[in-house]
Amino acid sequence: MAITFKEEHSVGVKEIDDQHKQFIAILNELADAIDNNKTKETLAHIFDELGSYAEFHFATEEKYFDMFSYDGAEEHKAKHQELKEKIADLKSKMADNQVSLSFELIDFMEDWLIDHLANMDQKYVQCFKEHGLS
Ligand SMILES: [Fe+2]
Ligand SMILES: [Fe+2]
Repeated sequence: MAITFKEEHSVGVKEIDDQHKQFIAILNELADAIDNNKTKETLAHIFDELGSYAEFHFATEEKYFDMFSYDGAEEHKAKHQELKEKIADLKSKMADNQVSLSFELIDFMEDWLIDHLANMDQKYVQCFKEHGLS
């Protein structure tokens, strides 16, 4: 259930690797909370944290895309946008009791994150390296 950060997911930039680790930690915290039957309020609180962290993390990557005129920026930003919208949508559905946090939802987020780390984030590694970011 819990996911761990693997070295193959490193983008060679400590600031960003640390953020990815924190992103994973919040997801694991959410899975744990469900596992331990925490209240809806607690789950909503951690989910909010996940949403804010996603925004903060995506903004960090996008700042460097702009700084380095990264040519994959547009495609990558669109992927970030998709997840931000998905989280916002889930958040409002949870508030309306149309949806509750489930392991399926966590699985979806975990799959999204691992796929994004392995496929999208790896694509900027070369560009960031060429600009001396480490
Ligand atoms: Fe990322
Ligand atoms: Fe990304």
